[in-house]
Amino acid sequence: MNMRPNRSRIRIVRLGDPREYLRTELVQRDAWGIEQADIVIPFHMMIAAQHHGGLVLGAYDGRKMVGCLFGIAGRDKKRQFHYSHITGVLRAYQKRGVGLLLKKRQRDLVLKEGIDLVKWTFDPLQAGNAYFNIRKLGAIAREYHRDLYGRMPDSLNKFMISDRFEAEWWIRTRRVNNMLHGKKKHLSLSQLKAGEAGLINETDLEDGVRRPVKSNLNLNEDRLLFEIPSSIEKVKVRGLDLARKWTLHNRRAFENYFGKKYIVTDVLLDREDDENRIYYLLERGFRPLA
Ligand SMILES: CC(C)(COP(=O)(O)OP(=O)(O)OC[C@H]1O[C@@H](n2cnc3c(N)ncnc32)[C@H](O)[C@@H]1OP(=O)(O)O)[C@@H](O)C(=O)NCCC(=O)NCCS
Repeated sequence: MNMRPNRSRIRIVRLGDPREYLRTELVQRDAWGIEQADIVIPFHMMIAAQHHGGLVLGAYDGRKMVGCLFGIAGRDKKRQFHYSHITGVLRAYQKRGVGLLLKKRQRDLVLKEGIDLVKWTFDPLQAGNAYFNIRKLGAIAREYHRDLYGRMPDSLNKFMISDRFEAEWWIRTRRVNNMLHGKKKHLSLSQLKAGEAGLINETDLEDGVRRPVKSNLNLNEDRLLFEIPSSIEKVKVRGLDLARKWTLHNRRAFENYFGKKYIVTDVLLDREDDENRIYYLLERGFRPLA
């Protein structure tokens, strides 16, 4: 029997019934591989947020909750924004469009409140999240946080340094609208290389796993590329020291180039000699609100 969920039968609902919030705990545990109860976001916190400027959505396949999203009202010195803390989809339902449906509904509801910006953080070494956030949703990144959460016990983050990109999703822009509707044209890796984009880092392949070799921190081209491993999970299996080395390699490069006003604007996937290669595109002079 084919168990693949059909995207069109997924419903996105703003949660109301207190019992529904409890189900988000199951989704979180499955999506992040959380074994301990104490690090899921508890249902009562979600209810509090829902009633005080936040947003909690559930994605349903029939009566089963298969995904959830939780965000709170955010503010910094300049503006009010929505802070999207978690988006999670049951493992069996991932890469089937559920996450995109949750984010699209979040965008609609936040826009209705008159807010233009949604922010969240993500691990820049999680290539899938990077692709989802930057390429599919059209978020950008220009801020780097060192070890934001300290050590975390869930299976995606265990033993890792929790460095994070801060994603900015300018939801009223034409660029984001085009990206969400698949109308945005992206430069390919070969076009970028032909256009003389600079390559920040050198990597090599050893036993099927990419290792960082060195970075050039003095490039001056308007467009730069930075390679990350296609699967940090595979790197971790090879050795946690190597995974941490990748984090520090990233940190050095992004702190340097974010400091020089470069912005991450795209994620490129390339297939070379049977290997998936993943690159961040950084641009100088990019105007997020244009
Ligand atoms: C990140 C997450 C919410 C995305 O939800 P999802 O339902 O899997 O994503 P979608 O199917 O809507 O993705 C839309 C696109 O992004 C791509 N994508 C999403 N996750 C991907 C991954 N891990 N690797 C590669 N591509 C990925 C999809 O292939 C799809 O692209 P396509 O339309 O070109 O095929 C989900 O994978 C998840 O719960 N991950 C674990 C928890 C987590 O890390 N959450 C994010 C941090 S808060």
